[in-house]
Parts: sequence; C-alpha cells; structure tokens
Amino acid sequence: MRYATTTTAAERIATDCLIVTLFEKNRLDDTSSALDGITGGVIQAALRNGDITGKSGETLMLYQPHGLKARRLLLLGLGERKSFSPKALGEALASACRQLDQSGSRDAALLMPAALESVTDNYRAASEGVVRSEEALYRFEQCKSKKNPPKRPLKKLTLLARERRLLNAVKKGASHGEAVARGMNLARDLANLPGNICTPNYLAEQARKLARQSDKLKVTALTEKQMEKLGMGALLSVSRGSRQPARLIVMEYRGGKAGGRPVVLVGKGLTFDAGGISLKPAANMDEMKYDMCGGASVIGTLQACVDLELPINVVGIVPASENLPDGEANKPGDIVTSMAGLTIEILNTDAEGRLILCDALTYAERFKPAAVIDIATLTGACIVALGHHISGLLGNDDGLAEELLQAGEASNDRAWRLPMGEEYQKQLESNFADLANIGGKGAGTITAACFFSRFTEKYKWAHLDIAGTAWKSGKEKGATGRPVPLLTELLLQRCKLVP
Ligand code: BES
Ligand code: MN
Ligand code: ZN
Repeated sequence: MRYATTTTAAERIATDCLIVTLFEKNRLDDTSSALDGITGGVIQAALRNGDITGKSGETLMLYQPHGLKARRLLLLGLGERKSFSPKALGEALASACRQLDQSGSRDAALLMPAALESVTDNYRAASEGVVRSEEALYRFEQCKSKKNPPKRPLKKLTLLARERRLLNAVKKGASHGEAVARGMNLARDLANLPGNICTPNYLAEQARKLARQSDKLKVTALTEKQMEKLGMGALLSVSRGSRQPARLIVMEYRGGKAGGRPVVLVGKGLTFDAGGISLKPAANMDEMKYDMCGGASVIGTLQACVDLELPINVVGIVPASENLPDGEANKPGDIVTSMAGLTIEILNTDAEGRLILCDALTYAERFKPAAVIDIATLTGACIVALGHHISGLLGNDDGLAEELLQAGEASNDRAWRLPMGEEYQKQLESNFADLANIGGKGAGTITAACFFSRFTEKYKWAHLDIAGTAWKSGKEKGATGRPVPLLTELLLQRCKLVP
C-alpha cells in the first residue's frame, strides 16, 4: 500500500473513504463534532441508535455522507479513552484496513485521533498504524497456482494530521513504519517459503539481490570451502549431514562514518531443522522450515536500513544450513572444534543452532563491533517460559539489554530478560570436550545463551530467542516478521531519528 500525509481538512479531502475514530462511552472531540454537524448528525445518530459503540476495531460504514468530499464515512472504534495509546490506534486501523481491502474503497484517509496530543504520540501512532495495516494486508500466495487477490484492494492510505505542528511527526512516523513493514514483509516471505525452495543458497541469493539496490550495501556469501579455511568446524559439522551446502551470508551496510564501529546482527538461518540423528517427532515438523526466521529478520532489517538510508554502520551475518539425518551427519557424542578453538561435545544433534551460531559469533569479531545481537529460534524451552507473545533476551551487557527492552516496548515488539550465571554455566560441562552442546534438564533457554557467552567475551552482546514469536501455528500459520520492528527501532534510536 502507498501512504501519504496531509493537513487538508477532513471535510475537504476527496477519498473513497474517510475514517473517523471514536471512543467507547465518550463525547466526540471538536473536529468529529464539527464533521457530525456538516453531515447532518449521522455520527451522533449512529451512536444514539446503538449501531456503533466504539469498541476497539468496531466499524460502521456510512455511504454518501452529506457535506463531505469523501464517498464513504467509516466510523472506527478505538476502545476506551483511558486505555488509548498509539498501539491501540494500530490495532483498530488494522481491522479497518482488512475490511476496506475486501470492499469497494481503493483509497482511504484517516483523521488522526485528537487524543494524540504530543509530537511523540503522533509519530508513534503513524508508524504503528502503518506497520499494523501492512501486517493485516499481508498475503503469501507465492506457491499457489491460482492467486486470489481482493477484487478492489485498498491501495492508498492518507494520514490527516490535526495540526501543522504535528505534520512532520506523522510524516516521519509513516515513513519509518513503511520501512519496518517492508522489512517484515521480506522476512515473512523468506520464512513462509518451504525448505525445498528457501535453501541456504536461496537465502544468499536474496541477500545479494538487496545489495544490487544500494551502493551502501555489500553482500558476500562464504562457501563451505572458505569456512573450512577459517576453521568453522562447528558450523560445518551441521551442514555435513545435508546435501545443501552451507553458506555464511555477510551483509555490510555502510551508512555511517568510515571506520565507525558497526552494530552486528547475527541471525540463525537453519532452513530446515529435522533434528538430525536426534530426530524430531513427525507432528508439526513442517514448522521447522521457520528455523531460519532469525536470519530472515536480519535480512529484513538490513533492507530497512537501505530504505531509510540510516546514518550508521550495520553488519548482518546469517549462517545458513539444513539439519538432517544422514550417514555423514553429526552423531551424539561427536566432538567438533569451533573457529574459536573450543571443542564441543555434541550430546544432542538437535541443538544445532548454537553450533552454527557460535562460529558466526566468532566471525563477528573481525568487524570490531559496537554491539552484537544474535537472533535465533533457538529453544522450545523459551516457548514454555514466555509463550508466543514476548521474545527471550539474554546477554553480557546491562546497557545493551536495557536498550533492547526499551526498543521492544516502543515498537510493540517486546522482549523479556532472563538471567545467566555460573550455576547455569556448570550445566554445560563435558567429560570429553571443552563444553557440551546441551545443558541437561532445566533452564534450556538460559543454558543455550550460556553456550553463546563462551564465544562472545570480546564484545557487548545480546541474544534474542524468538522461538515463540517468529511464527504462528494452527489456522493462522505463518511468519510474523518479528523482531524486525524491535531491531529497526534500536537502529533508529541509535541514529537519534526517533522524536
Ligand atoms: N529450532 C529448534 C528450537 C525450536 C523448537 C524452536 C520448537 C521453535 C519451536 C532448535 O534447534 C532445537 O531443536 N532445540 C532443542 C534444544 C535441545 C535439544 C537442547 C529444543 O529446544 O528442544
Ligand atoms: Mn534443533
Ligand atoms: Zn533449530
């Protein structure tokens, strides 16, 4: 969808559909009251007659409203005034867009709610509105032979700022929101593709495609031979059990000062995780095509950097491989040597994410990072701990962790910090190697992060476990595009571009 912003008065905007918001059990604000007057009282009448009450996402379509240049007037509920926030606008607008996409309107204009008073709230509501609308209109039909697009899709949304002084904030919010949404859509597309199409080589090719759009982005993808030379024995032990060669995708975005230390994002790109010799049960195993969602979020976030031309250096690293059972696959008890020189006893071949990521984390050192954030669908235990709403966050630096928590809060893409410590580190002891790749019973998300901590001592590091948040199961099965909003927010904040 295309987005525009203006301060044109609501009654003078020519559009297929003017969207006016209202609260549950609350008086209309001055502008809405004025619009009600112009239309001969249709809004008040609808409220009085109980056709709309203002519940969040509730809508009432009115046709050919008198006195307006708009063809239709859509009343949109925002819920209760006291619980209103930019996030609430996003949710309600998503519901309106879904409805408009399936009906006659090709374009719409939203009168920003008067309850958004500050510049900050207008910025946030605009970005949240755009992100949630795009999210609602997303469809994945690449693999259907008969596509089924809406007959008259919604193609354009104009945001009407209430006042001149708010216009810039709305404009900025919409443009940031658009970049985030495009990043999420790319991450969702890559993730929704099946494992037989989205292979390590495919991911590398998609990353390369991005580089062709910008001089600031350079993409290379190391081959197994090159990784061999670097001594990436842990990563290569995983791909040895697969016919698809592993790739280490390296995306270097240079938007900041030459020589400025980059933020390095490392995303797990396991394009299919069958578990290896420690084979997973059959039920829902198809969802393990989503085990590359961390990598997809890195690629999506780098696209957002390109879109926004962010003045910062960012490096994306995506170790990409499959994990399958095979005569050459890792066996329980095998010992491999990582690029860092640490030997690892593989007690469970299904704990493969940490094997590919530890070598990628060592590789990250060469960029002299300001911070390293890894993103991985790493542990089922994280779903037990936090469910499907909030990502797990761990790391070795309180400042960086706090920054991520705050960025997650601001972008409505939350994370929650879990502890680490010596007690947990002990669980990784091995009788035969420097460390084991599993930590035994209990605290699976924490021991996985403890494993990484052995490879991240040289820089500030944080780890996001997105096992519960990267995709949805069941009837709504599909990738979510998380945590692209959180990561992009962090970068925007580092660039001081958020009002
Ligand atoms: N990719 C999985 C983690 C996962 C499982 C994410 C289910 C989302 C849903 C990872 O490679 C894995 O298999 N982890 C094991 C680790 C265990 C063997 C220590 C797990 O969580 O069971
Ligand atoms: Mn696994
Ligand atoms: Zn995995």
